[in-house]
Amino acid sequence: MVRRWRELAADSVLLDGFHALKHALRFGAEVPLALTADRDAVLALAEDLAPDLTARLDALLRPVDAGTLPALLPRPHPTGVAALAVRGSGGSGAVPEAERSAPYVVLDNPRHLGNIGAVIRVAAGAGAAGVLTTGTVDPWHPNVVRASAGLHFATAVAHREPGELPPGPVYALDPEGRDIRGLELPDDALIAFGSERHGLSPALRTRADHLLALPMRPQVSSYNLATSVAMTLYHWMAGRP
Ligand SMILES: C[S@@+](CC[C@H](N)C(=O)[O-])C[C@H]1O[C@@H](n2cnc3c(N)ncnc32)[C@H](O)[C@@H]1O
Repeated sequence: MVRRWRELAADSVLLDGFHALKHALRFGAEVPLALTADRDAVLALAEDLAPDLTARLDALLRPVDAGTLPALLPRPHPTGVAALAVRGSGGSGAVPEAERSAPYVVLDNPRHLGNIGAVIRVAAGAGAAGVLTTGTVDPWHPNVVRASAGLHFATAVAHREPGELPPGPVYALDPEGRDIRGLELPDDALIAFGSERHGLSPALRTRADHLLALPMRPQVSSYNLATSVAMTLYHWMAGRP
């Protein structure tokens, strides 16, 4: 099993823990290998939290010694299970543009892996078309997948150059913009957010059709990136039937 893990690991996405594996399976990811040192505990967790998956996990889980996961992973998840999935499988492909009925979230050069994962998680939950990132961070980095709880497989997730974004009006979020509350976000929008440190890049600011602000109390400078995405997506959802 260890040899098979090592063979697959280089080209696969690490699903670190029960919740990541659960979401990946629910949203159709190809999962060639899942390891645990305690099958009974993982199956009991499934019975409790995801009974829809108990039979599939029973067939998928491969037992290993207690020392195996700590040797394979830098920080094994407390739920005691790890799996490998095929990157881009399941629901992580882009919807054809003609069929798109929800906005994309665009993260302009995000830096914090936990933030990117939290954004993917909320985008998947809200039914956004996907999350596109510019800049140097891989949105499929294992720590991003860990933070998204495996919801990479429930929405399109990809890196894009700033000039390769899908068509659609760009609504860029910035504390200096116009109050978002007076405006409805259309389903074909690209909703863009700046980086944690520097905000929107000049390129995205120039490309923006609208600059929108989330209301804040005076003297507060900005919200956290993932929080801003959650508030904006909620605003989009609240304006829909
Ligand atoms: C942590 S903030 C960046 C703060 C950065 N120091 C700046 O100068 O903009 C990350 C991103 O979240 C969004 N954001 C945060 N607070 C916001 C607000 N009140 N209104 C609109 N967007 C906001 C923006 O897209 C921003 O670029």
